[in-house]
Amino acid sequence: MTHSPFDPDLFADRHIGPRGHETSAMLAELGYADLDALVDAAVPASIREREPLDLPAARSEAEVLDDLRQIAAKNQVKRQMIGLGYYPTLTPPVIRRNVLESPAWYTAYTPYQPEISQGRLEALLNFQQVVEDLTGLAIAGASLLDEATAVAEAVALMWRASRAKQGYVVLDAELFGQSLAVTQGRAEAVGLPVVVLSLEDGLDAGIAAFEADGGTLPPGRLVGVVVQQAGASGRVLDTRGVVAEAKERGALVTMATDLLALTMLVSPGELGADIAVGSAQRFGVPLFYGGPHAAFMAVRKGLERQLPGRLVGVSVDADGAVAYRLALATREQHIRRERATSNICTAQALLAIVASMYAVYHGPDGLRAIGERVHGRAVALAGGLRAAGTEVEHGAFFDTVRVAVPGRAAAVGAAAVEAGYNLYVADSDHVQIACDETTTEADVVALLGLFGAAPADAAEGVGLDDALLRGTEYLQHPVFHQHRSETAMLRYLRSLSDKDLALDRTMIPLGSCTMKLNATAEMEPISWPGFADLHPYVPADQAQGYAELIGTLERQLAEITGYAAVSVQPNAGSQGELAGLLAIRAFHASRGEEVRDLVLIPASAHGTNAASAALAGLRVVVVATADDGEIELDDLHAKLAQHGDHVAGIMITYPSTHGVYEEHVREVCAAVHDAGGQVYIDGANLNALVGLARPGRFGGDVSHLNLHKTFCIPHGGGGPGVGPVAVAEHLVPFLPGDPAPSGTAAGGDAAAGGVPPVSAAPHGSAGILPISYAYLALMGPDGLTAATENAVLTANYVASRLRGHYPVLYAGANGLVAHECILDLRRLTAETGVTVDDVAKRLVDFGFHAPTMAFPVPGTLMVEPTESEDLAELDRFVEAMIAIRGEIDAVAAGRWSVEDSPLRNAPHTASSLLGAAWERPYSREDGAYPVASLRRGKYWPPVRRIDQAHGDRNLQCSCPPIDAYAEPLGEN
Ligand SMILES: Cc1ncc(COP(=O)(O)O)c(C=O)c1O
Repeated sequence: MTHSPFDPDLFADRHIGPRGHETSAMLAELGYADLDALVDAAVPASIREREPLDLPAARSEAEVLDDLRQIAAKNQVKRQMIGLGYYPTLTPPVIRRNVLESPAWYTAYTPYQPEISQGRLEALLNFQQVVEDLTGLAIAGASLLDEATAVAEAVALMWRASRAKQGYVVLDAELFGQSLAVTQGRAEAVGLPVVVLSLEDGLDAGIAAFEADGGTLPPGRLVGVVVQQAGASGRVLDTRGVVAEAKERGALVTMATDLLALTMLVSPGELGADIAVGSAQRFGVPLFYGGPHAAFMAVRKGLERQLPGRLVGVSVDADGAVAYRLALATREQHIRRERATSNICTAQALLAIVASMYAVYHGPDGLRAIGERVHGRAVALAGGLRAAGTEVEHGAFFDTVRVAVPGRAAAVGAAAVEAGYNLYVADSDHVQIACDETTTEADVVALLGLFGAAPADAAEGVGLDDALLRGTEYLQHPVFHQHRSETAMLRYLRSLSDKDLALDRTMIPLGSCTMKLNATAEMEPISWPGFADLHPYVPADQAQGYAELIGTLERQLAEITGYAAVSVQPNAGSQGELAGLLAIRAFHASRGEEVRDLVLIPASAHGTNAASAALAGLRVVVVATADDGEIELDDLHAKLAQHGDHVAGIMITYPSTHGVYEEHVREVCAAVHDAGGQVYIDGANLNALVGLARPGRFGGDVSHLNLHKTFCIPHGGGGPGVGPVAVAEHLVPFLPGDPAPSGTAAGGDAAAGGVPPVSAAPHGSAGILPISYAYLALMGPDGLTAATENAVLTANYVASRLRGHYPVLYAGANGLVAHECILDLRRLTAETGVTVDDVAKRLVDFGFHAPTMAFPVPGTLMVEPTESEDLAELDRFVEAMIAIRGEIDAVAAGRWSVEDSPLRNAPHTASSLLGAAWERPYSREDGAYPVASLRRGKYWPPVRRIDQAHGDRNLQCSCPPIDAYAEPLGEN
């Protein structure tokens, strides 16, 4: 019997695209005998590690899924009634399977290329509309990272908008504990004074009480107030008084709120708030042990240019048809850097889409019915308790009942757990019970039983006064009325995803983004109840499975990066950067070196680096880059000498954003260390290092990693992400603190090492960590190293094939790149007028997502093929780029003008090619099928090139009326 060399159980062979003969063919193109030889030539010996990663050997998909099932079984799933911003919800199965679990949605990239992203842009616009309608404010963004960071962003926004030099912000003592912890930490880092007050009796009364208690207000004026509706204790306040008093003092008002409550309550906009923030989690997104969830922010007109994060706007395409795009602040970090409004890059797009579809599916009446049912359960609970003589603290509440049980709170909490319910034990005298969409009448009976009570006939004197009840309509747009049957919903979802290009259709060769396989086996566990249905603040004994999974993952990431410890708390790379920089600051402060207040950042760094430095309260000094793309050592030494004791550290990316392994990285690190600074190595490019080199060993003190790049968490159309922070031994005490509110079993140690939390949940977006855990378990040490080697191989193969057509901007030793390459179009643009935009849009006609445009060098395209693409797909891309070069040559030769070339007219929609008249200097066929293989399968973009400037000039960030979709007639 003969044996096939192919092992069907070896997952690495499924994850890595090229087959053996394809690897040989690519190596032959590059002139190397084997992968080892290529990697030896590409990776500088000074950083190369030969020691294998100390990780368990690879296991099969079946074995890893079995392991994860056992881990999930160690988590105990109770009825979660802790509340505090996290509520069980029923994800409609049609949305769970066709969005959350659908690669067409989860493998998409952030919609920077709007022509191939119309489906997800429409879904995100729906999200904005939901938030705008329910909050009663004019403009909402397309998601923030979590509610706590959204509150912190709102505080920063109020400061920016006020232009105040001196002053303070008042935070409602009824804000969720995690929002207070994160916001106070963020405000302190940048020196913005905040004061926590009770607003129960109004703002003026709160300030008076604060002062009467010996508190001193910071100097300057009141800049803003954040009030929570409903508050952490469940109380619903008539906030009109607070708002009026705040306005009287010239302050802005932010309302932290709950979308489901707003189906019944007067909206923040009607109450006079300027800003509303909150979490959209309970619109169909599982608890996920804390995340990922989409937070939201909405603002009144006039503040839209201050909004952090991404905003979807309406524009038109080249034929005047309605088209969506990211508006205003998109990628502003790359332009404004440390002056950017925020450091948020990856946000929570996928979860915002789930929440938006929940609203589309239920419509306004469905949402209202759910809201009323939830409120009704809370009223029934309160009524039964009152009838039994138990004190219910608030008369006005939405879903949360606060019960006075003097001296017995812990015992009641424990009895509830015994009965299968997690309540919030707020202090020794109070418990809180938060009702949600899943709470049944039987639950109410069981819960009342814990207090020796029974349902009462009428619930007198509890609930909501008329003054608090909403009279205005919401979700009147047709989209919230047209897809209410499952058939209609299914087709709507399919029609949207059909408009988009995601990894399930094509390679997404985005430099600095690592769009690789997100394997089905890695994805499956995230929706299992054992992972999806845990509240982030459950007692530790109920989350043993998560403790094991997170502990293992953190240890394995520490092993891979060469650091002492890792925290998975940051829920995006940007937040990992902030956590790392806060650790550096706290470290210096612990040694009495607070004077170290600036960070050196190369000009080529990702924009979030500089924006995060500003958020950490550090000044930014730019270090020059030499012609070969490496950090200019002379300039580094000069800057270190010039700034001396002020240098807190340097932030470098390795391999650099230029896609090369810099030879001198150890020298750079040593020079900064000699000057007393710390070295931050941005690990977003770790896909070029895993198994080959470890930043913690070649000079880094701290790094963040993007699990949504190297470790297979899918990009979700712009999030979720996970950005763990990894630190050397001396920085371990300065890892992020615990945000869990005191009283919850999870924590209460907001700033253990003096460093505040950076996320609302102790383990950030814990619910998607099984993905990276599974990836590591499936690949094992050899598979992970092979993945890196293949990523280097495919990037060098593409660089080699295209070098003759487009100059490759930077190369390291032996003319090799790392895991990505930069194609330089600047000379071609100067000679022909064809821009990177033209090339990017023409690639759409070939069915490709464009490479990264104009980063880190304007006028270039950065290509990162990753290890998951096989040779056929790489060649399809190479051939497309060569064909495009032929079209550029045709412009140069005068065959057609650039304005009327297939490049400038790209992308071509079917209707633009099928009009009665055709007057272009190229054929319709050349427009549609620039290479013959496209005739066998073609992606048709739904819109032509989108007018970016028009969208910003005529800013519209809500759903256009249905008649706006009518095709302009007779023009094609
Ligand atoms: C080099 C680099 N650093 C930091 C980031 C920020 O990561 P995130 O988008 O998760 O905030 C990115 C994101 O693309 C990046 O490429």
